[in-house]
Amino acid sequence: MAHFYVVKCIVMLFFVYYVCAQQCDHTVEAARFDCHPEPFVSQHKCLTRKCCWKPVSSLITPANKNRSTNSFGENVPWCYYPRDFPMYQIKTNESTAFGQRLTIVKQQSTYMPNEILHLTVDLLYETSQRFRLRIYDSTNKRFEVPLPVPVVETKANATDYEVSFSQAPFAILVKRKSTGLTLFDSSVSPLIYADQFIKFSSRLSSSFLYGFGEHQQPLLINVTNEWKKLTFWTRDFPPTQQVNLYGVHPFHINVEMKSNSPTNFHGHFFLNSNAMDIDLQPLPAITYTTIGGIIDLYLFTGATAQDVIQQYWDVIGKPAMPPYWSLGFHLCRYGYNNIDNLRAVIQRMHDSEFPYDVQWTDIDAMLSHLDFTYDQTQFTGLPDLVRSFHSEGKHYVNIIDPGISKTQPSGTYPPYDDGLKRAIFMTKFNSTEPITGKVWPGMNRRWARLVDSHHYFLHLGLTVFPDFTNASTIDWWTNITGTFHDTIPFDGIWIDMNEPSNFVDGSHDGCTDNSLDKPPFIPHVLGDSLSAKTLCPSAQHALSFHYNLHNMYGYFEAKATNLALKTIRRKRPFVLSRSSFPGSGQYTAHWTGDNRATHEDMYFSIPAILSFNMFGIPNVGADICGFELETTEELCTRWMQLGAFYPFMRNHNDLGHRDQDPAVFSWTAQQIMKQALLMRYSLAPFWYTLHHQAAMTSRTLVQPLHFEFPNEDITLGIDRQFLIGRAILVSPNLVSKATTVHAYIPQDVWYQFPSGIKMKVVGTFTDLDAPLDKINVHVRGGFIIPMQIPGANLMTGRGNPFTLLVAQSASGNATGNLYWDDGDSIDSIETKAYNYLEFSLVSGVLTINAIVGSYKDSPMRLGIVQVLGFSKAVTSVTVNGNDHRDFFYNIPDQVCSSS
Ligand SMILES: *[C@@H]1O[C@H](CO)[C@@H](O)[C@H](O)[C@H]1NC(C)=O
Ligand SMILES: *[C@@H]1O[C@H](CO)[C@@H](O)[C@H](O)[C@H]1NC(C)=O
Ligand SMILES: *[C@@H]1O[C@H](CO)[C@@H](O)[C@H](O)[C@H]1NC(C)=O
Ligand SMILES: *[C@@H]1O[C@H](CO)[C@@H](O)[C@H](O)[C@H]1NC(C)=O
Ligand SMILES: *[C@@H]1O[C@H](CO)[C@@H](O)[C@H](O)[C@H]1NC(C)=O
Ligand SMILES: *[C@@H]1O[C@H](CO)[C@@H](O)[C@H](O)[C@H]1NC(C)=O
Ligand SMILES: *[C@@H]1O[C@H](CO)[C@@H](O)[C@H](O)[C@H]1NC(C)=O
Ligand SMILES: *[C@@H]1O[C@H](CO)[C@@H](O)[C@H](O)[C@H]1NC(C)=O
Repeated sequence: MAHFYVVKCIVMLFFVYYVCAQQCDHTVEAARFDCHPEPFVSQHKCLTRKCCWKPVSSLITPANKNRSTNSFGENVPWCYYPRDFPMYQIKTNESTAFGQRLTIVKQQSTYMPNEILHLTVDLLYETSQRFRLRIYDSTNKRFEVPLPVPVVETKANATDYEVSFSQAPFAILVKRKSTGLTLFDSSVSPLIYADQFIKFSSRLSSSFLYGFGEHQQPLLINVTNEWKKLTFWTRDFPPTQQVNLYGVHPFHINVEMKSNSPTNFHGHFFLNSNAMDIDLQPLPAITYTTIGGIIDLYLFTGATAQDVIQQYWDVIGKPAMPPYWSLGFHLCRYGYNNIDNLRAVIQRMHDSEFPYDVQWTDIDAMLSHLDFTYDQTQFTGLPDLVRSFHSEGKHYVNIIDPGISKTQPSGTYPPYDDGLKRAIFMTKFNSTEPITGKVWPGMNRRWARLVDSHHYFLHLGLTVFPDFTNASTIDWWTNITGTFHDTIPFDGIWIDMNEPSNFVDGSHDGCTDNSLDKPPFIPHVLGDSLSAKTLCPSAQHALSFHYNLHNMYGYFEAKATNLALKTIRRKRPFVLSRSSFPGSGQYTAHWTGDNRATHEDMYFSIPAILSFNMFGIPNVGADICGFELETTEELCTRWMQLGAFYPFMRNHNDLGHRDQDPAVFSWTAQQIMKQALLMRYSLAPFWYTLHHQAAMTSRTLVQPLHFEFPNEDITLGIDRQFLIGRAILVSPNLVSKATTVHAYIPQDVWYQFPSGIKMKVVGTFTDLDAPLDKINVHVRGGFIIPMQIPGANLMTGRGNPFTLLVAQSASGNATGNLYWDDGDSIDSIETKAYNYLEFSLVSGVLTINAIVGSYKDSPMRLGIVQVLGFSKAVTSVTVNGNDHRDFFYNIPDQVCSSS
C-alpha cells in the first residue's frame, strides 16, 4: 500500500507541474475563472477535470465555504481553467440579413454530462444601439423564455458597436466604435454548453455596475477588489443580503470610466429564466452560469444610463400607466383581525385629517385564509365599508395568494372545484394529477390568532397551484375574480406568495429523482435545493417544466390578474406583485417584500426602488415603518417622510405588532407625517406626468444622482439620496437620533423645497439640517413642477387649483410639462382623451402651451405660480398681457408668488 501511494503521488506532482508550467501561470488571481463551481472541490477532483489547482491564502477554503450564506469573501477559485482547456472553434460563418450566423464545434466533452458539441451562433445587429447574441443547439430545439421580444429580421445599417470573432478558440468581441472601448469579450474563459449547465464569461469595461435583482444590496456593485456571486431563483425570503429573493432580473448597467471625457454606460440583459449564478470578479469580468435554456444575450450601448434603460425596455416592454388614485397613500396591516379594528383605524385617520386614498386588508380578512372569500363573522359588513370608501373617492385593495385550497368539502369551494374541472392546475411530473403543496389556506381562525408562526406549520391546508401559462387559466381566474368582485367591489389586487411559496419543500409527497429535480449543478440558491420552499422543478406547466418557468410564475400571475381586472372593472388595473421578472412592469407594481422595522432596511429601500426603476417596474415602494419587528415613533416618522417620495407609498405591518398607521402616534409625530403626506399629495400631478413619460418614452420615475451627473465621479456610489425625475433631489435622514444629513448637492442650481431658498454651496457634500420634523428636498433650477392643492384624497383633490413651481436655472429659464386625464380609463392615451401641457420660462415670460387638450370632463384651473431665483425684486407681473397686481415677492428668499 505504501509503495502504491508514493507512486501515485509522484504522478500527481508531475501532472501538477506540467499543467502549471505550461498553462496555469496566470499572473493575477483576478484572471482565474472557476473550473469547479460545485461545492466540495479538492485537488484530485480539479486535476481529474484537467484544470489548474493552486490554493491561495485565504481563511475561507472552498471546502468549508458556507453555501447557504453564499459568501465568497476574498475567495479566489483554487481550481481554474488552463489556457488550453478544450474550447469551441468556428466551423462555418455566413452573412445573413440579420447579421452573421456561425456554427461552432468542440472535439471533446469536458466535465458536465450531456455537453452539446455542435452549436449555432447568431449575431443580430438589431438596432444601432442593440446587439443580440444567441447561441443554441444546432440540431435540437431547447427551451426559450416565453417573453414576446421584438423580432428583427434585418441588420441595422449603422451601429454604435463593432463586432468581431476569433476562429480558434471561438470568441466574440464587441467594441464601442466611438471610443474603441471593449463592451464584451468572451475570450477570457472557455464556453461550456451542456444540457443543464451553460457557462460563459466576458470582460467588463469597469468594476462598477448597477442592477442584478432582486437582491438586497447597495446600489453600486463595486468589484475593484472583490469577488461577488449573485444567485437568481425566485424565493420567499425576507430581504437579506447575499441571498436570492422574490424576483429575478438578470440585467445590469456597466459604467465605462473615462478620465477627462463624458462617461458612457452600456448594459447587458441575459434573456434566460433558469436558475443561475452570476459571478463578478476584479479582472473585471462577469460569468453567467445557468442550468437551462440557451444563451440569449442583449447588449445595449446607451450611451447614457437612461438610454440603456430605454433600449432595455424596448425589449421587455414599457411599464403600465397606473390609475391616478394609486399614487396616493396606501394603508395596510396583517392582523386588523376584525372589522371593528379596521373601522377604528379608518376613523382615526379621518379624525386626524390625514390625506389617504387606499385601504387594504391582508389574509386575516379571508375566511380560513381561503382566496376569494372574506370572513363574514369577523368582517361583517366589509362589502358595505368598501362601497362607503368609493362614495368618498377612496379605494380598496385585497390580497390573493396563488395557492388554492384542495381540502374544502366538495361543492363548497368553486375556485378549486371549477379549476379541477377545467384542468388548469400545475401537475406532477409526467402526470395529470395536480401537484400539492401547503400554504396559508384552510387554516382555522383559532390558529390565525397565534402569533408564533411555528404553530402554523402543523395545521396548514393542502393547496394546488394555478398554471398561469395556460390560456384557459386566465378565463378561470377572471371568472372567480369576477364572482368575488360581485361580493366585494375591490379596486386592485395584491398578489403575494407568488415565487411561488410553499411551506413544504417540493410537494407534500416529495419530488422525483430525475435530472430536473436533481440537476448536476445547482446554483447557490438559499436552502441548497431548487425545491427549497417552493414546488418541485419537475412539476408541469402548459408551456414547460417548472424547472424552466419557476422564475416567471409571478410574471404570468401578474399578467393574468391585470387582464382579469381590466375585464371586470373596465378601468385601469392596479396590481401589486411580490415576485417579478423582466416585463412584469407592464402588468404590476412591486414592493420589496417582508422587510423589517430597522434603519438598515429603510436605507436598503433606496437602492431597491432605484434598481426596480431600471428593471422596468418603476411603480415600487417598501413597506413603510417596516413589516416585521416592532417599529418606533422615530423610525416610523423618518420612514413616512422618505416613503412620501417613493413611487408607491404603503405603510404595512405584520401580525402581532402594535399598530403603526400615522394616526396612532403622538400629536407631534402626526403633524410631521401629515406634512410629508401633504408634500406628496401636492406633487401628485408631477408624479403622474413622470408615469406618463415612463409609459411613453421609457424614463425611470426615480434615478440615482450618477445618471444625471455622470461626470461628477463622487456621485457614483450615492444611494442614500435619489432624484425624482430630473428635478427633485431627496436626501432623507436614515440615521437614528441624527439631526443632520451628510448629503451631496450636485453642481447646479438648487432650491429648498418648499421654502424656495437657493442653496449657496453646490458640487460638494454638505451637512444639511435634518431635525425630526424635516426631510431635505431640493428642486433643481431649470425645471417647472406642476402641483395641485391637496384634497382629502387624490380623487376629491382633482378639482382643486393647480400650482406651478418655477425653478429658474442659472440663466433664468425653466421648462416643464403636465399630463392629465380622467385618472383611470384604460385607453386614455390611445384615444387621446387627455391634456398635455408644456411650460416654459424664457426671459421672464412664462408660457403655457396646450399640445393636446382633448380631456374636457373636468376643467383645470391654475392657482398660484411661484417663481424661484430672482436676483432683483420683481416689480410687475402681467397675465395674458394685462397688468396683474395680485403677487408677492419675498426679498430674502428671492421667491415670487402670484395667483
Ligand atoms: C451556514 O450558515 C447557516 C446560516 O447562517 C448556518 O445555519 C449553518 O450552520 C452554517 N453552516 C456551516 C457549516 O457553518
Ligand atoms: C469566414 O468565412 C470565410 C470563408 O467563407 C473565411 O475567409 C473567413 O476567414 C471566415 N472568418 C472567420 C473569422 O472565421
Ligand atoms: C438601410 O439603408 C437602406 C438604403 O439606404 C434603406 O433603404 C433602409 O431602409 C435602411 N434600413 C434601416 C433598417 O434603416
Ligand atoms: C470601490 O472599491 C475600492 C476597493 O475597495 C475602493 O477603494 C473604492 O473607493 C470603491 N469605489 C467606490 C466608488 O465606491
Ligand atoms: C410516464 O408515465 C407513464 C405511465 O405512467 C410511464 O409508462 C412512463 O415510463 C413515464 N415516463 C417517465 C419519463 O417517467
Ligand atoms: C363564471 O362562470 C359561471 C359558469 O360558467 C357563470 O355562470 C358565471 O356567470 C361566471 N361569472 C362571472 C363573474 O364571469
Ligand atoms: C390547459 O388547460 C386546458 C383546459 O382548460 C387543459 O385541457 C390542457 O390540458 C391545459 N394544457 C396543458 C398543456 O396543460
Ligand atoms: C436656457 O438657458 C441656457 C443657458 O443660456 C440655454 O443653454 C438653454 O438652451 C435655455 N433653454 C431654453 C429652453 O431656452
